[in-house]
Amino acid sequence: MSEGNFYKKIVCIGAGYVGGPTMTIIANKCPNYKVTIVDISKPRIDAWNSDDLPIFEPGLKERVEKSRGKNLFFSTEVDKEIAAADIIFVCVNTPTKTFGEGAGKAADLQFVELTARRIKENSKSDTIVIEKSTLPVRNAEALEAILHSGNNSVHFEILSNPEFMAEGTAISDMESPDRVLIGSKETQTGKAARDELVKIYAHWVPSERIITTNLWSSELSKLVSNAFLAQRISSINSISAVCEVTEADIEEVAFAVGKDTRIGEKFLNAGIGFGGSCFRKDILNLVYLCEYYRLNEVADFWKQVVSINDYQVKRFVKRMLRAMFNTLVGKKIAVFGFAFKPDTGDTRDTPAINLAFQLREEQARLSITDPHALENAKKDLEGLEGIEYVEDPYSTAKGAHCIALMTAWDEYQSLDYQKIFDSMEKPAFIFDGRNHLDHQKLYDIGFNVFPIGKPPLLHH
Ligand code: UDX
Ligand code: UDX
Repeated sequence: MSEGNFYKKIVCIGAGYVGGPTMTIIANKCPNYKVTIVDISKPRIDAWNSDDLPIFEPGLKERVEKSRGKNLFFSTEVDKEIAAADIIFVCVNTPTKTFGEGAGKAADLQFVELTARRIKENSKSDTIVIEKSTLPVRNAEALEAILHSGNNSVHFEILSNPEFMAEGTAISDMESPDRVLIGSKETQTGKAARDELVKIYAHWVPSERIITTNLWSSELSKLVSNAFLAQRISSINSISAVCEVTEADIEEVAFAVGKDTRIGEKFLNAGIGFGGSCFRKDILNLVYLCEYYRLNEVADFWKQVVSINDYQVKRFVKRMLRAMFNTLVGKKIAVFGFAFKPDTGDTRDTPAINLAFQLREEQARLSITDPHALENAKKDLEGLEGIEYVEDPYSTAKGAHCIALMTAWDEYQSLDYQKIFDSMEKPAFIFDGRNHLDHQKLYDIGFNVFPIGKPPLLHH
């Protein structure tokens, strides 16, 4: 036992969307391990220690409450906790670089490097350091070089253990994962470290779902998983454009195509495009890697996935403009949903941001509503004029010329659309960016309805 009654002490650096839920489940499932999540942000840690957690994730609160104060702790004492750790998960953010070489593509590794230096300076005994953040391939090499530099005699073993959680389902993704991936060096110490991590997951994950690989395969598999998922969305979205001009129906096409078990049914929902903190970032990371190794054709292939995603929003705005008599100047547009997907307040890279900027260029007025993401929306659109943020969707729609639905929140399906229609300017339009509403019913009420990848339902 490393301290008290605990078998090992785990420390996680970074109390964000990844670190918080991941460590909570580990603490729940492994009561014999002490799990401490540290972060440089005091407000974040204070929030984790309060009733008002810093992130909204279904099922998270109960699970935090189950273990907090027993074997799950949140702290800002980064150095002290590092010193006591046997196993350290690195969960700091790795955003896309906005400056210098690789700007707009490469991962910004400053936080990872700072974290590695802090681990090196404070570790007192041999430690396993686990890359949880999504990192460029061969990052473990750099991490190892930093950790073993200088005259610290401590041995560090580096593992890659990428996360595959999706927001909104983070808890079930962690509790019953499709797979857990662990990359290690093939050395004796590498394998021993890998076995320590396998032991943790084996508390609840069946052994056939725990995959072990070499370090580089693990790092690359994470980028490739996200690139493949995003590619499916861009593929179906590209076909939605074809449907709109041929009167084919994208849902029928997706259903027919997805029934081929080699293709599969999942992740074929056409819409306004993917958002979230991972897809764009990880594809750009892959693109940067390819360009670095002069694999320009491969880089171009993956770049196209991002281009189609941006094109989808442009196309949507263009469709609005054309339908609404080629001018949006001064018109009120009700934006239903701002989060990048339902059941989260997260707005990172949400297509709604691009939509808002493009509609403002057309000098439309925006009234944005969202059950959980309004505070983030305000930050994202700071400085942009002509926008109001409204909690109640009925008020958002009042006096509007159209509704643009951006997030498939359940509650938008059960609104009283007759009441909404009555309060809007006429002709009233709905542009359903997620094919989420009952289009025939809306048409029958009197709306002109524009779904994605289907013919519009028009009264004129
Ligand atoms: C992010 C990315 O979204 C994900 O793709 C990647 O795999 C890991 O990084 P996420 O948990 O969503 O994951 O990031 P975020 O919510 O921003 O949390 C990171 C936390 O790390 C923040 O709370 C930040 O304060 C903390 N941090 C950052 C440190 O504690 N130390 C640092 O040096 C930098
Ligand atoms: C994703 C991956 O799914 C997860 O494995 C990885 O660890 C992190 O990145 P996340 O970003 O939380 O998770 O959400 P996800 O459910 O994958 O959705 C991403 C975006 O794609 C959302 O904007 C969603 O609306 C969109 N999407 C998804 C579609 O437009 N169509 C689909 O069929 C599926």
